[in-house]
Amino acid sequence: MLPKKYALGFFPTPLERLDNLSKKYPDYNLFIKRDDNTGLASGGNKTRKLQYFIHDVLEQDCDTVITAGAQQSNHCRQTAAACAKVGIECHLLLGGKRPKTYDGNLLLSHLLGANIHFTGDNRKGEDLKSLKEDLNKAGKKVYDIPYGGSNLLGSFGFVDAIKELKYQLSEMNLKIDYIFFASSSGGTQAGLKLGIDFHGLDVKLIPISIDKLGYGDMTLDEAVLELLEEGGEFFELKKQYSIKDAMLIRGYDSEGYGVVTINERKAIKTLAESEGILLDPVYSGRAFYGMLDHLNNSKLKKNTNVLFWHTGGLPANFYYSEELTC
Ligand SMILES: Cc1ncc(COP(=O)(O)O)c(C=O)c1O
Repeated sequence: MLPKKYALGFFPTPLERLDNLSKKYPDYNLFIKRDDNTGLASGGNKTRKLQYFIHDVLEQDCDTVITAGAQQSNHCRQTAAACAKVGIECHLLLGGKRPKTYDGNLLLSHLLGANIHFTGDNRKGEDLKSLKEDLNKAGKKVYDIPYGGSNLLGSFGFVDAIKELKYQLSEMNLKIDYIFFASSSGGTQAGLKLGIDFHGLDVKLIPISIDKLGYGDMTLDEAVLELLEEGGEFFELKKQYSIKDAMLIRGYDSEGYGVVTINERKAIKTLAESEGILLDPVYSGRAFYGMLDHLNNSKLKKNTNVLFWHTGGLPANFYYSEELTC
C-alpha cells in the first residue's frame, strides 16, 4: 500500500488530443497529458512528488524543509509553494551566484518566501548535509527533500499518475503506444515505469535525457535503475529490472543542461503556435523537440497513438527571454 499524501494540486490533469499537430503528422495521433496544470504556483510534475513529501514532513513533525536545484529549478519553486501552503520554513540551495535581480523561477521562489542560499557550481544538493547540520544546531527540525525530489517516496507520485492515466484511457476508449517526457533527476521516469508495471499498462516509455551529467560517478540510467529495484521490492513485482529498463534517450542533451538552442526554441514555437500550449526551454521544450525529431524522422511505428507528458516549467521562459526572442 502506498503511503498517505497531502492534497496540494489539481487532479486528474487533463488528457487532450493535439488536433492541429496531429493533422501535420497524419501517420500519428498525438495527445498531451497536462501536468503543467497541477497547480502549486503555476504547475508542473513536482506537485505529484510533493504531495508525498509534505505528508511525510507533517507526520514527522518537522518545521523546516530543505532542498536543492539549479537557479531556475521548478522543483525548488514548487517546494517553496508547498511549504508556504502548510506553513513550513523552506530553504533552497540553488546553483550559481546571487544575481543582481531575480527572474523566472528564482523570482517566484523568493516571492513564495523561501530562504535562498547560492551554492556556486553545486546544483545537485552537494551542500544539503552541511545546511541541515547548521539548521539543526539552530534548533530546527529539518526534513531534506533530495535533488529533484527523486527518491522512492517522490516517485510514488508517478505511480499514481499511471493509475490516473489508465482510468482516463479507459473512459476515452483509447490505447497509447508511446509516452515521451523529460527525465532529469529520475524520479518521474522511475515512477512512470513502476506505475506501468504495477498497474499493468501496455505502453512504451521514451524518456528524453535533459542533463547529460549524472550524479557523482553514477549515470542517470544507473540512478533510475536503483529506484526501480527499490520500487520493485516495495510493490513485490515479480520482475528483475536491468539497465535496459532505465535507459534514457540521449542526443538531445549534448549542449548541456539549461543551454537553450534553436531546437528548444523550435519546439516551444511549434506547440505554442499550433495548439496554444506553452512548454519551457529547459525540460519540456527539449523533450518535445525529441518527440518531433522522432516523428519527423519516422523513428516510431506508423498509425500509432503518441502521448507527450507535459511536465510544466513555464516560469523559466521569462529567464531565457533573450534566447527565445529571435
Ligand atoms: C519542468 C520539468 N520537467 C521535467 C523534470 C524532470 O523530472 P525528474 O527530475 O523527476 O526527472 C523537471 C525536473 O526538475 C522539471 O522541472
